[in-house]
Amino acid sequence: MPIARAILNLFYAPFHRYVCIRPYILPVTVGMVLGIAIHMTSVPFFEDRCDRNLRLMGQRSVQEPIMLTSLLKPQSKDEISKKTTRNIVPESEDFEPRIVKPPEIKPGVANKTAVQKKISRPRYISTELGIREKVFAAILSSADTLNTFGIAINRTLVGHVTKAIFFTSTMPSPIPQGMNIVSFLDKHNEYLPVHTLKYISEHYSDTYDFYMFVSDRTYLRGQRIYEMVEHISINEEVYMGAPSPDGKFCDLEGGVIFSQPVISKVLKNLDWCLKNTHPDNPSTTLGMCVNQSTQKHCSMKGGDHIFHHYRLDDFEYDDDIIRLREDPYFNSSLSLYPLPDDISQYKLHRYFCLLELNLTRQQINKAKEEIIDLSQHGPEGRDSLTWPIGVPEPFKPTNRYSVIPWVFFTETHIYLDGELSIIKELKGLDKLDIQDTIQAAVEALQQTYDSELTFQQLINGYRRYDQTRGMEYVLDLMMTNKAKKNENILKRVHLVRPIGKVENIQMPYVTENTAIYMVVILHEEEVDMFDKFMVEYAQTCMETKDNSQLIVALVYPNGYGNEKKKDPFAKPKALIDQFSKKYNTDTKVNFKVIQSEEAYMNDIKILDLLIPDFTDETLIMVGRANMELTSDVLVSYFNRVRMNTIKGWQVFFPVGFAQYKPEIIYKEKSAPSLVEVGSKVGRYDLQSYDHTSFYVSDYKAARKLMSPEAMNISTIFTLFLNHKKLHIFRAVEPFLKLRWIQFSCLPTMSQHHYQHCVTRNTEGLASTHDLAMLIFQDRKEVLTQSIIEPPLPKGIDPVKKS
Ligand SMILES: *[C@@H]1O[C@H](CO)[C@@H](O)[C@H](O)[C@H]1NC(C)=O
Ligand SMILES: *[C@@H]1O[C@H](CO)[C@@H](O)[C@H](O)[C@H]1NC(C)=O
Ligand SMILES: *[C@@H]1O[C@H](CO)[C@@H](O)[C@H](O)[C@H]1NC(C)=O
Ligand SMILES: *[C@@H]1O[C@H](CO)[C@@H](O)[C@H](O)[C@H]1NC(C)=O
Ligand SMILES: *[C@@H]1O[C@H](CO)[C@@H](O)[C@H](O)[C@H]1NC(C)=O
Ligand SMILES: *[C@@H]1O[C@H](CO)[C@@H](O)[C@H](O)[C@H]1NC(C)=O
Repeated sequence: MPIARAILNLFYAPFHRYVCIRPYILPVTVGMVLGIAIHMTSVPFFEDRCDRNLRLMGQRSVQEPIMLTSLLKPQSKDEISKKTTRNIVPESEDFEPRIVKPPEIKPGVANKTAVQKKISRPRYISTELGIREKVFAAILSSADTLNTFGIAINRTLVGHVTKAIFFTSTMPSPIPQGMNIVSFLDKHNEYLPVHTLKYISEHYSDTYDFYMFVSDRTYLRGQRIYEMVEHISINEEVYMGAPSPDGKFCDLEGGVIFSQPVISKVLKNLDWCLKNTHPDNPSTTLGMCVNQSTQKHCSMKGGDHIFHHYRLDDFEYDDDIIRLREDPYFNSSLSLYPLPDDISQYKLHRYFCLLELNLTRQQINKAKEEIIDLSQHGPEGRDSLTWPIGVPEPFKPTNRYSVIPWVFFTETHIYLDGELSIIKELKGLDKLDIQDTIQAAVEALQQTYDSELTFQQLINGYRRYDQTRGMEYVLDLMMTNKAKKNENILKRVHLVRPIGKVENIQMPYVTENTAIYMVVILHEEEVDMFDKFMVEYAQTCMETKDNSQLIVALVYPNGYGNEKKKDPFAKPKALIDQFSKKYNTDTKVNFKVIQSEEAYMNDIKILDLLIPDFTDETLIMVGRANMELTSDVLVSYFNRVRMNTIKGWQVFFPVGFAQYKPEIIYKEKSAPSLVEVGSKVGRYDLQSYDHTSFYVSDYKAARKLMSPEAMNISTIFTLFLNHKKLHIFRAVEPFLKLRWIQFSCLPTMSQHHYQHCVTRNTEGLASTHDLAMLIFQDRKEVLTQSIIEPPLPKGIDPVKKS
C-alpha cells in the first residue's frame, strides 16, 4: 500500500517527525548546556588573547564603517537595534569577526530600510559619496551695471571660484560675452535675492560646499577667499560676511558666504522669503530669510577664520591709497566695498596682485634661507648646496660618454652644435634665446656692481642643456665702466634657465587591436630590396595572421608604357602573387599601380591616389621596403603605431635606426643579415620622415588645408605640421630598423627636396669618423706612393708598410 502510506505520511508528517525526534532532544539539550557551561568556565583563561584580538577588530569597525546590514540575512528590528546598541567592547564567546556599526557614529549612512528603498544608483561616484565642488559665487548685478562692474568682476574674481553666475532682474543690453548671466525678467528688483535662491535650489542646490552672494560693487580677493573656505569644515553652519552698519544682517555689498548646511535650510523656506521681502534693501531680504530658516546671525567668523572686510566711503583710489596702504587691516582685507566705478575695481586688483607677488617673493626668499640653514645639518654640509637654490643640481656624468658637452657661441654664430654641424649662423629661436640671456646678464651686472656699467661685446658664450635642470649658460662679457673713463672690464657670468612646470596632457583612449593598413611605396630603384621585405612580411605577418594588411604602391617611372620596355615591377608582382597563393589570402597583400605623370612623384601625390580606397576610420602606416620586419618589430613597433596614432588627435612620425653603407662599415667581415644597432654601424635618422602613421580622416582634413602651390615643396610631415589641431608625435623607435639605401636624387625634384635627398645620401654613408679614416687612408696611399716609393733599384724588395 505505498500510496496510502504516502498520504498518511503527508498528513501526519509533523506529528510523525515530532515523534521520531523527541527521544533525541533530551540528550542534545543536556549536551548543549554542558558544553556551554564548560565553555564558560574556560573563558577567564583565554580572556587576554581574545581581548587583544577583538580590540583590534573593534577599532577597525570604528574607522572603517562597513555596512553589513544589507549583506546579512533579514533580521528583525529588535535584533538590529540590539546589535547596534551593543558596545564594541569585546565579547569573548565569539571569535568570528563581526563588524557592528551604530548609525550614530557616522551620520548620513543609511540604515537597512533606507537601503532597501533606494535601489537606483547615481550616475557619478562623487554624487553617491557626497563630494561637492568648492565655491559657487552668485553676483547680484543689474542691467545697467553688468557691462561695467560686472565685466570688472568677471576679470578679477571669476577665475578664482569654481563657478560664478551673474543675476539681474532685467535683460542687460548689450549682453557681455563669455559670462554666465541669468535674468529673471521681473521689474521688481526687490525679489532678486529670492529669485536667485530659487534658481540655486533648482540647479545647484547640492553641488557646492560654499555659496557666496555679493553685489557687483565689491572687490573680492578671490584666491584668498578660496583658500579660506578650503580650511573651513563643510559640516559647519557658516553664515559669514561683513555685518551691515546696524549689525543685524550681513551686507550683500561686503559679500556673504553660506555653507551647505545653512543654504539647504534656507532653500526649504523660500515661500516665506518671497512673502517677506524688504522693498529696497536686498541685504535685509536675504538676512531675514536666513534668520527665519536658521536663527543665525551674521558673523565675521567661520571656523577659525575671520572675514576681513573694509568699507570704503567716498573712495578715490589715487588719493586714498597712500593713506590706506599704511593700514594693516586694509592689506589683510578680503572684501572692499562699495566701489564708485569699475576703474577702481581694476586699480585695487592691481594693488593686491602686486601685494601677493611681494608676499610670494618673500616666501621664496624665506624658503631659500631655510634650505641654506638646514643644509649645514646634512651629510655634506653647506657644500652640498648647488646654485641656484631650489633648482635641481647639475647632472653628474657617470662615465666619459655621458658628459653633457658645452656648445660655444658668439653673438652671430654657434659652433659644433651637434655631431654634424661645424658652424651655424645664429637665427630664429636660438638667436632670441641668446639675446635674452645677454640682456638678463647685463641687468644683473648693473644691479650688483654699478649701474655705470654698459654692455659692449660678448667675448665667449657657452651653453648646454641639462635635462634635470634646464639650459645653462656661461658668458664672458666685455663691459665698459663710464665712471672710470670708459675702462673695459671682462666679467664672467653663469646663468640657468630652469625647466618650467611639467604639464600632463590627457590623451583619448586607444586600443591595441586596431587593424593596420601598411602602405609601402616602392620606386623602381628599390625593387631589389623588396624580395627580402616580402619574405619577412610573409613570415611575420601572414604566418601569424596579424591584424594588418599590406598595400604596395608600385610607382612606375614617367613615360613608362610609351616605349616597349620590360616591366620593372614584374618581380614584385610575381612575389605578391606567389605568397597570396601560398597563404591562401586574396586580400592580405595587394598592389596598386601608380603611373607617374611627372619626373618626380611627391609622396603626397602618391597618397592622394591611394587614399580614396580606404574608409575614414582606417589606420594607415606608410613605410618603405628597406624596413626590417621581424616578429619583434611586429610586437613592438606595430603596437606602438596603434597606441601613438589617435584619430583626430595625433599622428606618429617615428625616428628609425638607419644602417650605414655595409661596404664601408663591414670591410673585413660579411654584413649580418639583420640590422645591428650601434653608433658605428648606423644612426637614428632625424632627416627621415618616410615612416609615419595616421588615420585617413586626419589626412583628408590636413590635405584640405594645403594650398596647391605648396604641393611641390610639401612632405607628409609638413602637411600635418600645418594642421594645427593635430599633435605630431615624433620619437626614437628602436624597433624600426632601416637597411641602407641609396636615394635617387633627381634634378627635376624641387630645390628643397633635392637638397634634402643629397644630404640624406651623404650623411647616411658612414659616421664622420669612418669617412675621415677612409679619406686619410686614401691620401696616405697616394702620399706613400708618391713620396716613399721612388723607383727601387732592382733586387731590393719594397718594405711593407702596415
Ligand atoms: C531607518 O531609517 C528610517 C527612515 O530613514 C527610520 O524611519 C527608521 O527608524 C530607521 N531604523 C533604524 C533601526 O534606525
Ligand atoms: C569673462 O571671463 C571669461 C573667462 O575668464 C572670458 O572668456 C570672457 O571673455 C570674459 N567676458 C568679458 C565680457 O570680459
Ligand atoms: C530672527 O528671528 C527671530 C525669531 O525666529 C526673531 O526673534 C529675531 O528678532 C530675528 N532677528 C532679526 C534681526 O530679525
Ligand atoms: C601694505 O602693503 C603695501 C604694499 O605691499 C605695503 O607697501 C605696505 O607697507 C603694507 N602696509 C602695512 C601696514 O604692512
Ligand atoms: C614689494 O617689495 C619691494 C621690496 O621688496 C618694495 O620696494 C615694493 O614697494 C613692494 N611693492 C608692493 C606693491 O608691495
Ligand atoms: C611643381 O613642379 C612641377 C614640375 O616639377 C611644375 O611643372 C609645376 O608648375 C610646379 N607647381 C607649382 C605650383 O610650383
